Amino acid sequence: MEYDTYSCDVLILGSGGAGLRAALAALDSNCSVIIISKSLLGKAHTVMAEGGIAASVANVDTKDNWKVHFADTIIEGDYIGNWQMAEILAKEAPDAVYELERMGALFDRTQDGKIMQRAFGGHTYKRLCHVGDKTGLEIIRTLEDGILHRKAVIFDETLATTLTKDDESGRITGAVGLHMRSGRFAAFIAKSVVIATGGLGRIYKVTSNSWESTGDGIALAFKSGAELSDMEMVQFHPTGMVWPNAARGLLVTESVRGEGGLLYNSKGERFMLKYSPEKKELDARDVVARSIYYEIQKGNCTEHGGVYLDIMHKGPDFIKKKLPGMYTQFMEFANVDITKERMEVAPTVHYFMGGIRTDPESCMTNISGLFAAGEAASGLHGANRLGGNSLADILIFGRRAGTHAAEYAKQAEMPEIKSSTIISEIKRVKEFLADGRNEAGPYSLLDRLRDAMQQHLGIIREEKSMKEGLEKVRSIRSELKKVKTSGTTSFNHGLMECIALENMALLAECMFLSAIERKESRGAHTRSDYPKKSIKWKLNILCSNKSGSIKLSHSSLSLMPKELSEIIGEEHYN
Ligand code: FUM
Repeated sequence: MEYDTYSCDVLILGSGGAGLRAALAALDSNCSVIIISKSLLGKAHTVMAEGGIAASVANVDTKDNWKVHFADTIIEGDYIGNWQMAEILAKEAPDAVYELERMGALFDRTQDGKIMQRAFGGHTYKRLCHVGDKTGLEIIRTLEDGILHRKAVIFDETLATTLTKDDESGRITGAVGLHMRSGRFAAFIAKSVVIATGGLGRIYKVTSNSWESTGDGIALAFKSGAELSDMEMVQFHPTGMVWPNAARGLLVTESVRGEGGLLYNSKGERFMLKYSPEKKELDARDVVARSIYYEIQKGNCTEHGGVYLDIMHKGPDFIKKKLPGMYTQFMEFANVDITKERMEVAPTVHYFMGGIRTDPESCMTNISGLFAAGEAASGLHGANRLGGNSLADILIFGRRAGTHAAEYAKQAEMPEIKSSTIISEIKRVKEFLADGRNEAGPYSLLDRLRDAMQQHLGIIREEKSMKEGLEKVRSIRSELKKVKTSGTTSFNHGLMECIALENMALLAECMFLSAIERKESRGAHTRSDYPKKSIKWKLNILCSNKSGSIKLSHSSLSLMPKELSEIIGEEHYN
């Protein structure tokens, strides 16, 4: 069993915005850094974030400030978001934007040369600092530029397959990974580890997420003993493409509505006037996604099963300037000119509010030396994330995770990873290639898993259906032992899918159990059998790993200080 060995102070899993920002922070603290990235550097899912970064810089709406941003975040998270994280986010977002600008990001400008901001659902004011509809791409470009001039060691197309811990102290010691190009395994010994691997949208059939979003980091953390929370909270973005089939689920940015786009059903009714007379198309995502869902269920849908999104009234120049990505996307994928035709859209799985539980200040998990940030971490967004808060999240909590992981590393000894641990992990992964493990490749099980999620854990949920979904997932998990793929460890898509399937099936079970447990409707979790919100459920549901099985528990929210609860209005909060 050959493998390579590397060591560093801080090991970072993931090269999206959170991972790169964490890496820069750890480098600033003079730590040695290794970044492991499943995709090619520059290709992480952050590049798909379009509409902007939420920050109360108040360039367009001068009344905006951190307090309003804080209140919006807590209220739209339906009161189970972590208030400490929301406070940090709201206070630090303006600096995070200016810092990014100093690093070289080129934001769109107002007439008087300030950073431009646009409206987004659930934000009281025009708050999203943006670069057309390609903000995520600009963030990655900027951070990557920063990283490439520094001394980080980057292993892209490398998948971490397990985290390692010290048996006695329980502290993290690194990870074992597979370099996909060479097919070689490696042990990455590290004093601290930051998980920044993003979300798990690919667990569903229709999603805006790229192929990387299979929840690997969340699953690895859980297996090594980290607590997960809010696993029932999946965000459906209201507007994804519905056709052609190959583009189904692809994001149609909220910026279209932010810039004045309107939603119509097939009868020509602007239905948001009925569902949300005040906020209309710019209500929070859960509200707009449900409204579209109801219209589709009623049969008021378009030829391809969606609703219409119309921005034509803004004129071609405006559309091409403000929404160049959308213009190209619809032209290239559907041959639809959005300056002359309406778009057809429907909800698509977009974001995971659940994930690894972390300390709000330091981003450390319950495992000593293990940190998490970005979509892999939970807490900040509660039951529903506001658009644009994720880009602020990755910058702010990415930086914090990197800084605290570096501080941790500075006072820690370089650990060891036993060769027996590494060898047994290599054997485990190679089992997927072993003969005689059966016929079933990963693909049919992946299809079954995605069908089960789409059918039983969608926008509207109900006990009996969720229990059926849970049984389907358990049956898939029981069949995992038989999954086999051919070929070697080098460039083997089937092998990658086997590993992803195992991780996703584990997380799917956590998601069903948590969703069945929460007997109310809150934020993105809507139950037809419990349609009301209940004060009893103003808490977070945790999943922990008890000797290989999933244990649920409830965690009450810590008391919000008076000066903060006054900002959002106590009558709301309680
Ligand atoms: O619609 C969008 O542009 C997505 C932004 C976000 O999820 O923050």
